[in-house]
Amino acid sequence: MSALPSDESAALDGILQRHRHDPTRLLQILIDAQDIAGWLPAPVLTRIAAGLDIPRARVEGVAGFYSFLYTRPVGRYRVLFSDNITDRMLGNAELLDALCRKLWIEPGKMSEDGLVSVTTTSCTGLCDQGPAMLVNGQAIGQLNHRRINEIAEMIRQQRPLELWPAEFFQVDDNIRLKGALLGLEMAPGEALKAAIARGPEGWLAEMQASNLRGRGGAGFATAVKWASARNAPGELKVIVCNADEGEPGTFKDRVLLNRYADLVFEGMSLAAWAVGAGEGFVYLRGEYRYLRPQLEAVLACRREAGLLGKNILGQPGFDFDIQIHLGAGAYVCGEESALIESLEGKRGTPRIRPPFPVIKGYLGRPTVVNNVETLAKTCLVALHGGADFAATGTAQSAGTKLISISGDCAMPGIYEYPFGAQISRILEDCGASDTQAIQVGGASGICLASYEFQRRIAYEDVPTAGAFMIFDGTRDLFEVARAFIHFFAHESCGFCTPCRVGTSLLKGFMDKLADGHGAKADLNDIDWIDRLLKNASHCGLGSASPNPVIDTLQKFRPAYERRLVSLDFEPAFDLDAALAEARQLTARNDPGAHLKTHEEEEEK
Ligand SMILES: Cc1cc2nc3c(=O)[nH]c(=O)nc-3n(C[C@H](O)[C@H](O)[C@H](O)COP(=O)(O)O)c2cc1C
Ligand code: SF4
Repeated sequence: MSALPSDESAALDGILQRHRHDPTRLLQILIDAQDIAGWLPAPVLTRIAAGLDIPRARVEGVAGFYSFLYTRPVGRYRVLFSDNITDRMLGNAELLDALCRKLWIEPGKMSEDGLVSVTTTSCTGLCDQGPAMLVNGQAIGQLNHRRINEIAEMIRQQRPLELWPAEFFQVDDNIRLKGALLGLEMAPGEALKAAIARGPEGWLAEMQASNLRGRGGAGFATAVKWASARNAPGELKVIVCNADEGEPGTFKDRVLLNRYADLVFEGMSLAAWAVGAGEGFVYLRGEYRYLRPQLEAVLACRREAGLLGKNILGQPGFDFDIQIHLGAGAYVCGEESALIESLEGKRGTPRIRPPFPVIKGYLGRPTVVNNVETLAKTCLVALHGGADFAATGTAQSAGTKLISISGDCAMPGIYEYPFGAQISRILEDCGASDTQAIQVGGASGICLASYEFQRRIAYEDVPTAGAFMIFDGTRDLFEVARAFIHFFAHESCGFCTPCRVGTSLLKGFMDKLADGHGAKADLNDIDWIDRLLKNASHCGLGSASPNPVIDTLQKFRPAYERRLVSLDFEPAFDLDAALAEARQLTARNDPGAHLKTHEEEEEK
């Protein structure tokens, strides 16, 4: 095995030291180590295993799990095109092709001189300004042919990213409609002071009165979660902010972290005050790594102001601090138990529950996992009281909801609506016309057809974590569902068979239909796999994965039927063509050497 060059070896030692040789920091160590050479050569993995005193197989297992960790060489410029359906609608494939042609490379491969590699990645959370890409972790949106030409030129010249035009890296917030949260102007610490004045129990009671429900998707009552963690046995309790935001079409948390970080961190401190927690983590998706420096700066200001650290705001014993933990391109790590595994430096495999994280979470400690938006919203409750918060929205859905709007509309961006807002109003506000369908809640959400646009966003009607992808009359809903199935098959962690095999089978059937080999029998098989995935998957990724197909099959069936050939069964490949080689070898090309088509059989 080749040894590490001495400068790389010294850098690696520094990284291990900085992370206190702590195996729970393994993912962070791998991310930092990868920064040395751009990838993770075998000797680096070996050295990390030795430095942490853990089996090398564990290090390799973790390195192999995350799509942003590379155990084979990649280009010094790593270009990842965002490949959400909204990027595709904006022509990302053509741009990727153009860049590859200009750089003389094949998509998915590294140039021979090791300069550049270009490939795709799942949604990067820039659907309001796509098509988008990440170059060495830095986001570039609003791609067009002019930008692609410039990027190709700068890569060829090996110009460092710091010298690329600054406007390339400008990520806009695109806030279009402000409500109670986005319109809130709060001095750091103000909400925390109000909560401290009520005492932990009084503050929890206020949270109960607010009826705030989690904004990450499942809509679980936040006060119930906090109270469970508070009452769980164990001295050390943990607050986790779920900033993984991997659901295709969602980018509201990006905007909150970019523009309202103080509200998010204050929300974490408010949770800590209620629960009695001393330790906090922000699990920041790898795609948002570019936000990290400014988030660290906000944390530093809060420490300086006595809002983090020991005896917060002079309250004896209120000790709480926050650290940022980076993800590395695994959608499943948004699932709270997979996220906790990842925080502990492991592969992001969802845990068997119970026990739930509030009882046994990070390192076995009672752990609250809340979405970015949920945490920011708690500031409103602390400032104005629970009853005030509950006065907005509907009976079962209190407050407002941030919606990330993308796709076919004039004004994509972030909109804040009271729960109960009608879908048709949202479409009107964002300048959508001729809308055929909307995918609400991301790939795992619900697809609404135009006859449903009078429905309302609310847990009791159309629940949503916040994505709103709009498709006008020119879009093919079959292709939309197919793109989402490809996403799920790619993101399945492979732990349980129904999801690992089911998503792959479903992808195969959708591709078969797309290739013109579909038959009626395939629709029955698709239906069967949908039910298998829904009922037998271990976690929410698998059980939600067939949603796009179930919805579009039910509401846009002609998009499937026009792809069927008129047979009960059709193989996924051309049987007659497959026999060509045999015909050539036997020097036959007479009608008897060809398979008869179904129509020919019927004519006989
Ligand atoms: C596959 C999968 C991905 C998820 N991704 C996220 C995510 O990116 N952000 C998030 O807040 N919740 C996500 N969730 C939901 C979390 O498991 C969890 O319910 C949520 O973070 C709880 O926060 P809340 O109560 O504030 O909503 C995901 C769930 C699943 C099954
Ligand atoms: S359902 Fe899919 S993502 Fe979830 S544990 Fe099973 S294989 Fe992994």
